[in-house]
This record gives sequence, C-alpha cells and structure tokens, in this order.
Amino acid sequence: MSRRDPFRPTFGASPYFWAGRTLILDRFTDAVEDNPGNPNRSLITDGARGIGKTVLLTELENIATLVDSTIPTRIRELSPPATRTITAVTVGGLGRVDTELLDVPSPTPTLNSRLRELLGLLRGTGVLITVDEVQDADPEALSQLATTYQDLIRDDRQVALVMAGLTHGINRLLDLPGTTFLRRARRFELGPLTDADALATLTTTAADSGRPFDDSSARSAVQLARGYPYLVQLVGYLAWDHTEDAITQDDVAAIAEEAIETMGAQVHAPSLKGVPSAQLAYLRAMADLTEPGRNTVSSTEVAEAVGKKPNQATDTRGKLMDRGLIEAPAWGRVSFTLPYIAEHVRSQGRRTRIS
Ligand SMILES: Nc1ncnc2c1ncn2[C@@H]1O[C@H](COP(=O)(O)OP(=O)(O)OP(=O)(O)O)[C@@H](O)[C@H]1O
Ligand SMILES: [Mg+2]
Repeated sequence: MSRRDPFRPTFGASPYFWAGRTLILDRFTDAVEDNPGNPNRSLITDGARGIGKTVLLTELENIATLVDSTIPTRIRELSPPATRTITAVTVGGLGRVDTELLDVPSPTPTLNSRLRELLGLLRGTGVLITVDEVQDADPEALSQLATTYQDLIRDDRQVALVMAGLTHGINRLLDLPGTTFLRRARRFELGPLTDADALATLTTTAADSGRPFDDSSARSAVQLARGYPYLVQLVGYLAWDHTEDAITQDDVAAIAEEAIETMGAQVHAPSLKGVPSAQLAYLRAMADLTEPGRNTVSSTEVAEAVGKKPNQATDTRGKLMDRGLIEAPAWGRVSFTLPYIAEHVRSQGRRTRIS
C-alpha cells in the first residue's frame, strides 16, 4: 500500500488514473495506424485552463509511440518499443526540432529542412509534432509550421500534428492569414469530465493506494470538483491527505474550503492578473448577482450593476470572453467559464476592503 498521495493536482502532470476523452484518443489511434492522409492526424484540442490539454497531448504522444507494440492498451511504457510508427517529437518554440535523433549542426536550419532531415533518418516510423500553449505562439512561427506541415502532408510523409491551447487565443490565431491550413485540422474542445469519469478517477486512484472513498464521500467529492480535472485531482489529494484510512464524507467536507481557495490561488489569481479595473468590476458584479445553484446571470443586470447601459458594457464583456474568463451560453446571459471564480472574486473584494 502506497503512503504517498497518488493524486496529482499539478499542471502538466499526468494523472494516476486517466478518465474520459475516449473519442479523441480512439480517433487518433486509428489515424496513426492509417495512411498519412487520415484527417485525424491533424488535431487541435482547446479548452479552458486546467481542463486537461497538456496531459492529453502526453497521452496522444504515448499512443503514437505505442502504436506498433503488440500490447493493445495505452499503458505508459518505461522503455519505448523498438519499432514505432510515429516518434513523439515536440517542436519547442516552433522553430526547433527537439530530439536526440538529431544532432546535426547545420547552419540556419529551417523547420522544413530539419523535419525532412529527421524523417530521412527514420525507417518505418514517423514524426508527431505537438505544440502546447498555441495561444501564445508567434503568428509568424505558426504560419511557418503550417506551411511546412502542409508541404510534408502533400508529399505523403509520415507526420502528424497535435496542437493544444486556450480556446479564444486559438480562435484569434486561426483567424490570421497564413494559418489557413491549420484551420482544417480536426478540432476538439475539451469540456468538463462527466460525473462518471470524475468518479472513476477519484475512486480508483484512492482505492488503489489503500484509502478508498465510500459511496457518499465519493459523491460529495464529485460534486465539489464540478468535473474540472484539476479540481478532481486537488479534491482527491486533499481528502486522501486528510485521513489515514477510508475517506469519509467528513474528510471531503473538511477540505472543501481549502480546495476552493487553492483553486483561486492556482488558477483564478494568475488569470486575473493584469485584468483592467473595468473588467474586474464587471466580474465582481457577476459574482454578486450569481445566485447559489445558478450558473448564468443576465448581462443587462450586470451592466446595470456597473452603472452602464447594456450596449456600453458589450465591449467589456467581449474582452472578458476573449480572456476565456466568461461565456455567453445563451442570448443575454453570461456565466463564468470555470468553477469557483465567483467565490474567488468575492474573497478578493473582501480582502481589498480589509486592507
Ligand atoms: N483525463 C483526465 N483524467 C484525470 N485527470 C486529469 C485528466 N485531464 C487532466 N487531469 C488533471 O488535471 C490537471 C490539469 O491538467 P493539464 O495540466 O493538462 O491542464 P491544461 O488544460 O493543460 O491547463 P493549462 O491551460 O493551465 O495549461 C492535472 O492535475 C491533470 O493530472
Ligand atoms: Mg497546459
């Protein structure tokens, strides 16, 4: 029995027990086994902070490296199989092919020439290019990647491309000229985990390490985590840490506040950094107007609360949507993208008044 907490509330850290996202994993598995032309070899996954984009990239890399193995499961291998169909290669900073296979010091290698060089060194295998945090990519570099990739595809080379990033940032980049080709990539927007998937992660991870949830504590933990993958790990982590044997409902209740505060500090605080005061005021008004158990508020009421006519607040609302902080799920309604922003914004307001 493990004495170390098996949950991993850390960005970029793959979970002990993987849950959900099966559609994209299955499509990609088929695609790497198929011919270069398979459209699911070019994927864009997007979604909010902490929704699981980076660990999904890792999972897809694992699929690519395991495709030639006789084991039909996606078990993470310690030593890679001898033959691979596709070698996972991350192109860091977009201009560089980062791999041990390449230590050829050529003067000013272009992405195209280096990838071709790399492909030339491989036999019976190919290259998977993964790009994380695409929303921050230099548009020029992205368009270079698009051109190169299109070129390799046209030549029927064994390449695949998976990109991940925040939804609105990606939309903005894909609107630029030069990235037309990337616009044709299959797009998967990552949403929250289903309750069943969140439950599976929580219960399996805890049980495997000797501190199982019971029925009611598992249900409370699922509710608290709201399907948000980072929170699922965090709630599991804190609950596991709070006991020495089975996890009870009292354990989950006892860590709820800390989970919400940590979410605020780790996720909301960084994404609210540098947000201008008019936008913060809008968020505060939304938080104040959000009734318990309801997700959306009327944008007219929010505008009123910040002392503006609805059309005057449209710009602020649009900017907050661009930042991925709020959404407009229905006409005239707005909601927070991530769970517990309202709580965070309210607690910030309190803190300001005290100081
Ligand atoms: N499918 C999943 N099953 C279980 N846990 C998951 C899953 N996806 C993500 N997680 C957990 O959620 C947390 C956040 O994942 P990840 O770092 O991939 O998010 P992200 O979308 O890349 O965030 P950011 O936008 O900040 O880069 C990690 O702790 C990870 O282990
Ligand atoms: Mg990430």
